[in-house]
Amino acid sequence: MKSITLFLFALIAIIAIVNGQSPNIVPLPQSLNYGSTSVSVNPAAFKIATTSSSTLLGVAIKRYQGLFFLFDGAVQTAPALTLNVQVASDNEDLYLGVDESYTIVANTGSLTLSANTVFGAMRGLETFAQLISYDPIGNAYSIPYTPIKIVDSPRFPWRGFMVDSARHFLPKNFILHIIDALGFNKFNVLHWHLVDAVSFSVQSTTYPNLTKAAYFPTAIYTHDDIEEVVAYAKTYGIRVIPEFDIPGHTGSWGVGYPELLASCPNYAANVNNLALNPSLPYTYNFLQNLFAEMTTVFPDEYFHVGGDEVVFGCWQEDPSIVQWMNNNNFNLVDVEQYFEDQLDTILGTLNRTKLMWNDPFQNGVNIKPGTLIQIWDSYSIVQQIVDAGFKALVSTTWYLDKQDPANNIHYEWQDTWRDFYAADPYNNITTNQDNIIGGEACMWAEQVHQLNWDVRVWPRSIAIAERLWSDQSVNNPVTALPRIEQYTCLLGNRGVASGPLMPDFCYMSNDFSGPLVKAIDPLPKHLIKKILGKN
Ligand SMILES: *[C@@H]1O[C@H](CO)[C@@H](O)[C@H](O)[C@H]1NC(C)=O
Ligand SMILES: *[C@@H]1O[C@H](CO)[C@@H](O)[C@H](O)[C@H]1NC(C)=O
Ligand SMILES: *[C@@H]1O[C@H](CO)[C@@H](O)[C@H](O)[C@H]1NC(C)=O
Repeated sequence: MKSITLFLFALIAIIAIVNGQSPNIVPLPQSLNYGSTSVSVNPAAFKIATTSSSTLLGVAIKRYQGLFFLFDGAVQTAPALTLNVQVASDNEDLYLGVDESYTIVANTGSLTLSANTVFGAMRGLETFAQLISYDPIGNAYSIPYTPIKIVDSPRFPWRGFMVDSARHFLPKNFILHIIDALGFNKFNVLHWHLVDAVSFSVQSTTYPNLTKAAYFPTAIYTHDDIEEVVAYAKTYGIRVIPEFDIPGHTGSWGVGYPELLASCPNYAANVNNLALNPSLPYTYNFLQNLFAEMTTVFPDEYFHVGGDEVVFGCWQEDPSIVQWMNNNNFNLVDVEQYFEDQLDTILGTLNRTKLMWNDPFQNGVNIKPGTLIQIWDSYSIVQQIVDAGFKALVSTTWYLDKQDPANNIHYEWQDTWRDFYAADPYNNITTNQDNIIGGEACMWAEQVHQLNWDVRVWPRSIAIAERLWSDQSVNNPVTALPRIEQYTCLLGNRGVASGPLMPDFCYMSNDFSGPLVKAIDPLPKHLIKKILGKN
């Protein structure tokens, strides 16, 4: 076993060296041409210039001006250089399918990034950052492999990441940190699973008692917090989609408003079994008002209303619901149909497109055309959904809370990036592939909060980011590994606690004090000596 492992590592090391002969870009661009000239870069005389007056692009440029040069004190002998950023339009509307394409041309004396939109320019800035190489021995920056020409655009328009802040509350500032990492990886949707059976942490001015189900009085996202998150995400070209998972997973809603829930004392032992009462106009009135309020802070066209894992037994245990079903000659699927129909009406008045999990489709509910369906459980359901004419988001096998996503066994802990990498949204989909508009990684948070988030999510999600952005043919884990390995080191130097996937050396500056390596209260030198008895 040991000799096989050693052989593998030797092989990987050789590949790493070979791969070191080309620019290291993650996700791999659609088209990359490069030469063998290296251009020296003087960080003190490097400018990013643009004629664009976009505020968003201005923020992104300022951000990348810092990210291009992470190590201080590098040699400053090279001539001045300017990256010229050209955008065809300053329009800042961010929506599904917005043009994210860009072109980079890097020659000895001229560096150009051009894009149709400010969002394409943001993607290009990230790629350009990865073209800049730092040599820690010479303490010098350069752009190797010029002349470079990159023409790039995403494979899928929806490259999402689901953040569950209901199983564990994530402080607003940590959500911003998550957005940094998502932006670096060219994800473009933050699907925010805000509430669930165990907590309701979103401030509502209409229904203030909902946050009685917050974990702690300050563990709440205020409207101001949400607006900050949405605005910050927009500076990365990331859309924020809220999820209010109904009618199941709603135990927390009943803490402040018990009349919302079906009465099912036997099922109530497990809070996950509780469900909204579908028989009362009160329920729909409540949802109408709450969602109207939420659309003032969540501007995106899409609104996720969950719909997964409704425990019908809870409805069946409530005599008033059974009576209502009898009066209407409803079976359980009819009830779910009725609920979803009311929801369609509500979302229609709010000018929102429904996004939901796949369960109602499987239960036989007639789904309104135009609904976007997110599939969590199997590829065969993806096939049925796209064949039924619905647009689909694939999350199957991208559950980051699973140690063993495809029932494969690996030797290294969480070496599941290979499974995520292999999970193409088109896998086993033989017809209507075009209805798949992307996918989402899902970080369900039963065992994750801000202290272990980064290490659970990265570097594994780099594999998903590449799967969603790069061409389908970019699927060889052997050639991807050294690229991802170099990129995870870069993420680390940017403060994302993204660890390595194999033995190597990730250079970090001596004073690097990333999130997980900083001592809370470093010992002064004299105390160290004293403790060691070396006075
Ligand atoms: C909120 O709960 C309190 C009791 O904690 C109650 O007095 C108040 O009427 C409730 N408010 C609403 C709007 O339901
Ligand atoms: C409804 O939403 C669409 C897509 O977001 C938008 O283009 C349109 O202006 C909205 N209509 C109204 C009346 O707000
Ligand atoms: C795809 O189909 C093949 C056989 O046709 C099967 O072995 C494989 O497990 C399927 N993959 C997934 C992810 O369902």
